[in-house]
Amino acid sequence: MNQQKERQLNQISKWVREKLIDEETGHDWLHITRVRSLSIEIAKKEGADLFMTEAAALTHDMIDEKLSEKHRVSVDELNKRFSEWKIEKNEADKILGIITKISFRNRDKYKDAKLSKEGMVVQDADRLDAIGAIGIARTFMYAGSKGHLLYHEGEFENIPSAVGHFDEKLLHLIDLMNTKTGRKLAKRRHDLMVAFLKELKKRVLMHRPNRIVR
Ligand code: ADP
Ligand code: NI
Repeated sequence: MNQQKERQLNQISKWVREKLIDEETGHDWLHITRVRSLSIEIAKKEGADLFMTEAAALTHDMIDEKLSEKHRVSVDELNKRFSEWKIEKNEADKILGIITKISFRNRDKYKDAKLSKEGMVVQDADRLDAIGAIGIARTFMYAGSKGHLLYHEGEFENIPSAVGHFDEKLLHLIDLMNTKTGRKLAKRRHDLMVAFLKELKKRVLMHRPNRIVR
């Protein structure tokens, strides 16, 4: 990668860090750094462009509506930054194309939109960060921040819960991986979640009110 591109990545990274350092919904700077390094690892194996991959990984949550207004920016503002940093127009368009398509919440809206190789890589990295040990931790943090239950059953069946989120989303992510490398990396993380849920279920069943012996 040439020096100008390296400088541009440093500028993007510094800006994103400042913006997301105090983000509290699970899209904080540490999430971005994990997605960045996973993306680079996958991109190298899959032969994706390293500059486009890293730039998209760094900015992938910046225009997402689920971030508070303080943390997100408009597409126009991001475009303005890209031109300040002298990122070429066609590259800026490609990066924006990737990051608008990859959010899980936009999955239905963009389900027919074709992702570039770099987009597939960053989407895999983002999904990998939602599963495994870190994914488990993020799920309970998110549920805690929203005041959700730990798990649901009986009369609480339809109330949102942390454990419910595994069935709704996290256990499906392994089948949604775009790249061979992403799938390979997902396996261990997926198996860990399955083992964790099995253990958790055992503990939950043991303590059901109808099993209490007085
Ligand atoms: P993304 O679109 O990047 O996947 P989300 O806002 O959906 O972002 O998720 C951010 C983090 O919070 C992820 O780790 C995700 O699994 C977790 N999360 C999202 N929704 C829920 C939920 N309803 N319950 C528990 N965790 C959730
Ligand atoms: Ni993300």
